[in-house]
Amino acid sequence: MTIRLHVNIDHIATVRNARGTRYPDPIHAAYVCEDAGADGITAHLREDRRHMVDRDIERLRESITTLLNLEMAGTDEMIGIAERIRPDCITLVPERREERTTEGGLDVVGQRKQMEKVAERARKAGIRVSFFIAPEEAQLVACRDLGAEQVELHTGEYCNLSGNGQLEELERLRHAARVGHELGLSIAAGHGLTRFNLPAIAAIAEIEEVNIGHAIIADSLFMGLGSAVRAMREALNRGLALREK
Ligand code: PXP
Repeated sequence: MTIRLHVNIDHIATVRNARGTRYPDPIHAAYVCEDAGADGITAHLREDRRHMVDRDIERLRESITTLLNLEMAGTDEMIGIAERIRPDCITLVPERREERTTEGGLDVVGQRKQMEKVAERARKAGIRVSFFIAPEEAQLVACRDLGAEQVELHTGEYCNLSGNGQLEELERLRHAARVGHELGLSIAAGHGLTRFNLPAIAAIAEIEEVNIGHAIIADSLFMGLGSAVRAMREALNRGLALREK
């Protein structure tokens, strides 16, 4: 029994883009994640290209040996890109330009027509479709009706809450996972997950996959910052050794 761990590497590109440099390279990050046991790499190509750009997705497709999950809005532009690049899976998410990160789940019920069109095009291209939704029965049923293989339950609310509120949201996620599974959907979860709030989610029997980004990149700073400082000190010392005596 295992749960697929898909690592979202968007924020490697965020750091790169902050300076317009070539580093840190998301493809390098993907290799490190795969080497450390990630089952897949997730990247979100946003309409405003604030982190990942089209070429990153193309290079990931050419390079990685695990699964590529492309998070995207369900627009004609994005499905066109997916048809060309052919990720293993697309996760359809809501997207608003002004948001800091994906806020709320996709309203599959309200956007049924467009989502149906996008899911159909993905299916024809041999791409698995996952819908990122709030843990609500109506959304689960709509996803099943559209022929989705998978849903990703939005864990953001659960991660933001504490105490009884968090326990109630956990119960909603448990219920949604059960209902989704009974509808024949594969169940993934993601957003806001950390080493601390993940175990309760991983304990839900139906969950087969998690998508985690921000917390892993954040942890990597402190798990690796000391090494980076030591490496810089070595470079400094190499320069010192070159000084004329
Ligand atoms: N799943 C989906 C659908 C997302 O949009 C995101 C954020 O891009 C994640 C998972 C990862 O969330 P986090 O970066 O908070 O781990």
